[in-house]
Amino acid sequence: MSESRTSSVETPRVNTGVAHNARVWNYWLGGKEHDEVDEQVGGHVAGMFPVIRDVARADREFLGRAVRFLAAERGVRQFLDIGTGLPTVDNTHETAQRIAPASKVVYVDNDPIVLAHARSLLTSSPEGVTDYIDADVHDVDAIVERAAATLDFDEPVAVMMLGILNFVLDTDTACDIVRRVMNAVPSGSFLALTHPTFDADLGGEGNVAAMAFWNENATPPITARPRAEIAAFFEGLDLVEPGLVSCAQWRPDTGAPGAVPQFGAVALKP
Ligand SMILES: C[S@@+](CC[C@H](N)C(=O)[O-])C[C@H]1O[C@@H](n2cnc3c(N)ncnc32)[C@H](O)[C@@H]1O
Repeated sequence: MSESRTSSVETPRVNTGVAHNARVWNYWLGGKEHDEVDEQVGGHVAGMFPVIRDVARADREFLGRAVRFLAAERGVRQFLDIGTGLPTVDNTHETAQRIAPASKVVYVDNDPIVLAHARSLLTSSPEGVTDYIDADVHDVDAIVERAAATLDFDEPVAVMMLGILNFVLDTDTACDIVRRVMNAVPSGSFLALTHPTFDADLGGEGNVAAMAFWNENATPPITARPRAEIAAFFEGLDLVEPGLVSCAQWRPDTGAPGAVPQFGAVALKP
């Protein structure tokens, strides 16, 4: 078990005067790792758009189902989780290592608060490995180089990009980031991704004003994308059934859950 840190990109330092996504996400999930300002802004957003708490929960549940699917049904043993978030129950390594204890997981985030909690992300099973890289998602070369200290890039890797590309505001740049990460992993690898949308068929129109409020009062700025733009992230990859759907409806464990305005999908690199 080791910890690496990249320093080639400036990361924002702790600023408890401004609400920050990782801490507000934790607040919406019912966690305790947030400050007063995160509660105020997160609470205001939830007042405008109460579904945001369901979105956060559905996203985490998608993470669990996607990792279980990849580890148990597709035999993936390596995970690169970019935009990790604050540790919560069933982080990627816990779910993967319950199925295959020797699984290797590298986490990447640029939030100093996540970095401060990285120790909780580094509690690997004795047979496996976990690592944490403090890096910006734009810095793909540094991420791949540092991750290669833990992951074997000649073997399949599941790239997890849940709720992260929405912080890359330019769509061409976001597509380029995905393309470069997926170019670094071999055939047989996977991309798992979630992303918010304003698409009305998923109930996203209710988030327009709340997201505008976020962008005026919190950091980092965020964007939603329509289905077609999110589908473009999967160009050249084979979507696993049921394809690009509301993340709540991706291979649900039970019943037929309603949609939340957050797309989710898993795709294979052929
Ligand atoms: C909405 S949370 C998602 C956390 C987790 N992936 C999940 O789905 O529950 C987004 C995470 O992305 C991180 N993040 C935002 N912008 C980033 C960037 N430019 N580089 C790296 N991480 C970033 C935030 O710090 C936060 O922890």
